[in-house]
Amino acid sequence: MSDVLLTIDGKEVRAKGETSILDAARSAGIFIPTLCHHEKLDPYGGCRLCTVEVESRGRTSYVASCLYPVENDLIVRTRSEKIAKIRKVILELLLAHAPDSPQLVSLAEEYGAKPDRFEKESSFCILCGLCVRYCAEVKKKNAIAFVDQGPKREVNFIPEIASKECWNCKECFSLCPTSYLQAAYFLTEALAFPQRALKSSEK
Ligand code: SF4
Ligand code: FES
Repeated sequence: MSDVLLTIDGKEVRAKGETSILDAARSAGIFIPTLCHHEKLDPYGGCRLCTVEVESRGRTSYVASCLYPVENDLIVRTRSEKIAKIRKVILELLLAHAPDSPQLVSLAEEYGAKPDRFEKESSFCILCGLCVRYCAEVKKKNAIAFVDQGPKREVNFIPEIASKECWNCKECFSLCPTSYLQAAYFLTEALAFPQRALKSSEK
């Protein structure tokens, strides 16, 4: 795949043809905030916090930069009043679920997002999918999965797999931007395989 030349925030950037705007921006030292992106995982496009403005053949649109591939002569803006508004609303919606997440609180300060704009639904999980995808794509264990659909969608450990695999791994814990994942694991451990929980507490 040959190189393409695009402009990001007024800077000429050269990138491989299949690169995402996010990766091209990062390689040029331009920061775009993300919540569901991880360099070891396939792009997911869940949080939309990485939204940027793209201008191509005279048309302007707003796209998730972690999914959108670079193309020749693309003009990208990673910061503008409208982008800041989009990110602010996304953060306000997520804060309704996880108001104490340090990552969200810090981003909220940056974008002036109000933690009480939307009614609290403290699920503590923002469904970024980092844990589910890391366990499936990197560890190949599938010990944690999304269950249910729509507003009932949540992340749960699969006790039969978790009892064998998770006690010695827990690599997903540090990926979670909220407190949900650790709490869900210890609850699963206490309910589904308490002998393991006992052994862990004796260490
Ligand atoms: S538990 Fe944490 S890492 Fe997993 S989907 Fe929810 S917020 Fe993301
Ligand atoms: S980082 Fe792009 S949608 Fe989440």
